[in-house]
Amino acid sequence: MASSDADGHTPTATPAQGDLFQKCRAYQEWFDSQLELLGFYPFFAAIQEVRGTTAVIDGRDLLMIGSNNYLGLSWDPRVKEAAIAAVKRYGTSCSGSRYLNGTLTLHEELEADLADFVGRPAALCFTTGYQTNLGAISALLGKHDHVFSDRFNHASVMDGIFHASGRRLGTIKVHRYAHNSAEDLDRSLRSAPADAGKLVVTDGVFSMEGDIVRLDEVAEVARRHGARIYLDEAHAIGVIGATGRGTEEHFGRPLSDLIMCTFSKSFGSLGGFVAGDREVVNYIKHEGRPLIFSASMPPANLAAAAAALKIMREEPEHAQRLQRISARMIREYKAVGFDVDLAETAIVPLIIGDDHLTFRFWRALFEAGIYANPVVTPGVPPGRALIRTSYMAIHTDEELDRVLEITAAVGRRLGII
Ligand SMILES: Cc1ncc(COP(=O)(O)O)c(C=O)c1O
Repeated sequence: MASSDADGHTPTATPAQGDLFQKCRAYQEWFDSQLELLGFYPFFAAIQEVRGTTAVIDGRDLLMIGSNNYLGLSWDPRVKEAAIAAVKRYGTSCSGSRYLNGTLTLHEELEADLADFVGRPAALCFTTGYQTNLGAISALLGKHDHVFSDRFNHASVMDGIFHASGRRLGTIKVHRYAHNSAEDLDRSLRSAPADAGKLVVTDGVFSMEGDIVRLDEVAEVARRHGARIYLDEAHAIGVIGATGRGTEEHFGRPLSDLIMCTFSKSFGSLGGFVAGDREVVNYIKHEGRPLIFSASMPPANLAAAAAALKIMREEPEHAQRLQRISARMIREYKAVGFDVDLAETAIVPLIIGDDHLTFRFWRALFEAGIYANPVVTPGVPPGRALIRTSYMAIHTDEELDRVLEITAAVGRRLGII
């Protein structure tokens, strides 16, 4: 439960010793011992009801500061109504892959709208953000290509790379460069043959640290080496940029070759898309196995994402409010002595370091009526355990006052600040 190494192995994940399930029993023993030590379980908490920024757990109202619903749109009546209407018209499932019976006009309309929104000729929707990274990255990487990934990229990016590596029998060369370091990226790119195919993959906003990629520097280095850039905007669209259009808007110009985003965050839905040149998107459409061999995005999720996109286009004030909230929380956490490290967006990590202290902090917040997320290895490097707080445009100022008051009181009591 607590610690596992960077590959997700627990300390007790021993070899099978004849019975494949032996590792599960060993894991259970270790898991139970950890649970006894801690006295509570901080993951998989079941939410009984949602009311905007409130989540009901174990019959208690908790103020949610652990959601990626950045603009609050999963709770917007217009988004909810769109989802309900789509279910009435198309049913609850597409019951098949995009490739065969699972494409609705809703998919094509949303794709056209998204392409226009991010300023690219074409877009393609997958059933989840995870599958988007898995499908697009693994389709693009061919034998002997080189891929360059920021060390803090999301796990789905790395899984896309591993998936490609497995399919191409390990001929793909994987480079992981130091977090947000164009210098280290430059060094890595120089080590690759000049004529090799090269892909640089980076998050726009990093999912645990809440910092923004230095995309202008990364793009300059990538261009110099003839590398293509794949930008994961999961935590950026709806969050940064003057009107919430993401990292490129933040930098004031197009800087990537492919833009990917998920619908599970600002869009208040489920699914994901990749956008870029028409022939590249068409290639991914026909080579991306998670698109071809999995059922397509269902009607309710399509309609919710489309309604959210319309709101994001027409009402930039939600992203702007979120930006004001984020700046306030970062400033006030720092003022009382929390270590928020690199945070500059709606994701504000409170860095604790020690796993058990992080769990105790999480529990104390929970008891005081606040829901945040504890993150330990492999979500973060060992020794960097943190409480991931994240904000929504629909949080009221009074709710944020309460969060600041409670986190400071608990932080002092546990000796964190
Ligand atoms: C940066 C990043 N990319 C991709 C994903 C995957 O998206 P989804 O959860 O919608 O499958 C996530 C989800 O947490 C993410 O943080």
